[in-house]
Amino acid sequence: MKVLVTGGAGFIGSGFVRYILRNRPEAGVINFDLLTYAGNLRNVEEVARDPRYRFVRGDIANADDVRGVFEGGGIDAVVNFAAETHVDRSIDDASPFVRTNVLGTQCLLDAAKKHGVAKFVQISTDEVYGSLGPEGAFREDSPIEPSSPYSASKAGSDHLAFSYFKTYGLPVVITRCSNNYGPYQFPEKLIPLMIMNAMDDKPLPVYGDGKNVREWIFTDEHSRAVLTALERGNPGEVYNVGSGYEMTNIDVVREILRILGKPESLIKYVKDRPGHDRRYAIDTSKIRREWNWSAEIGFSDGLAQTIEWYRTHQDWIREIRDASYLNYYERMYTRRDQTLAWSGPE
Ligand code: NAD
Ligand code: DAU
Repeated sequence: MKVLVTGGAGFIGSGFVRYILRNRPEAGVINFDLLTYAGNLRNVEEVARDPRYRFVRGDIANADDVRGVFEGGGIDAVVNFAAETHVDRSIDDASPFVRTNVLGTQCLLDAAKKHGVAKFVQISTDEVYGSLGPEGAFREDSPIEPSSPYSASKAGSDHLAFSYFKTYGLPVVITRCSNNYGPYQFPEKLIPLMIMNAMDDKPLPVYGDGKNVREWIFTDEHSRAVLTALERGNPGEVYNVGSGYEMTNIDVVREILRILGKPESLIKYVKDRPGHDRRYAIDTSKIRREWNWSAEIGFSDGLAQTIEWYRTHQDWIREIRDASYLNYYERMYTRRDQTLAWSGPE
């Protein structure tokens, strides 16, 4: 089976590319990625010379780029990871989110319809369900109530994808996973940002009261679920994916400091994210029942592995932490707290 993986140079997409090539000897992969600030070919270095793998630089929102890759031939299935993914950036400027996540998905759906693919897996997120109170968990039939421009654009792409199933019979499957962590994650997201700051003895900026709750899943586990969705997911259905490891942000940050042997005095509470969802939790009874799927990696083990990866990949960190990253950091964090102004590691 030849699979078009979009966004395969990003955090989760690159993990999936490595995972499918490792676990399915018969698979072929075309990695189609625009290489935005979040895309990095270093993430797929280990498969770059695999004859079953090919990289094509292109934009999912550009119909010519998408036509070109499909006309290259033989695509059996699409897994669409490509997206703008960071909530704080979407609050700053929603335009790239609507362009890539909504228009880009539509462009891919059109090409997939034209070429009659056997499966289209749309990688969505638990954030489309909005926020939970202290009890309960998101089910596949929970209402769609996104809070941020990011999650609203992802909800838009989900609706579009299902409209292609209902209207044209395109075999669309949607997965909605909780917060991922692991190696290769861009350090704008909570866990890698806190690890990198802690390693440099920089302040760890915790939004609001630090009591927002996320459900953390190691990214290889997400890849395993996506591969199952590709092979066994029923067209027209949603599958929630989660680990059961719910944590408050402050507990995650404390655990990172503990593993690194750094003092809690590095923690700095800063201005909250507008529209900040309080809690996410996933009901995974559907994939447990239908796929016999459950998460296998405990949060402490996964976090320790992740920290070790960042500790031993200083060259990857150095390349990522370029002028545009420092500029981003300065812009996002000094407005939350003037004392966080930072011009890079000493
Ligand atoms: P990421 O930001 O690390 O990577 C996104 C990738 O998409 C990058 O390689 C980027 O270059 C590429 N891309 C962006 N715009 C593109 C375009 N117009 N055309 C082609 N490529 C483009 O993202 P991630 O965290 O790996 O997330 C991957 C997917 O998983 C996203 O769809 C996201 O919504 C979803 N998701 C993420 C999480 C999470 O915790 N990170 C959880 C659930 C679902
Ligand atoms: O739930 C799945 C989603 O998880 C994905 O769809 C998104 O692409 C992904 O970015 C992630 O969204 P979150 O907003 O939950 O992730 P983030 O890492 O940005 O933040 C996690 C929590 O940590 C959130 O409550 C905000 C808080 N936070 C984040 C950062 C970056 C901080 O307190 N300080 C920070 O500096």
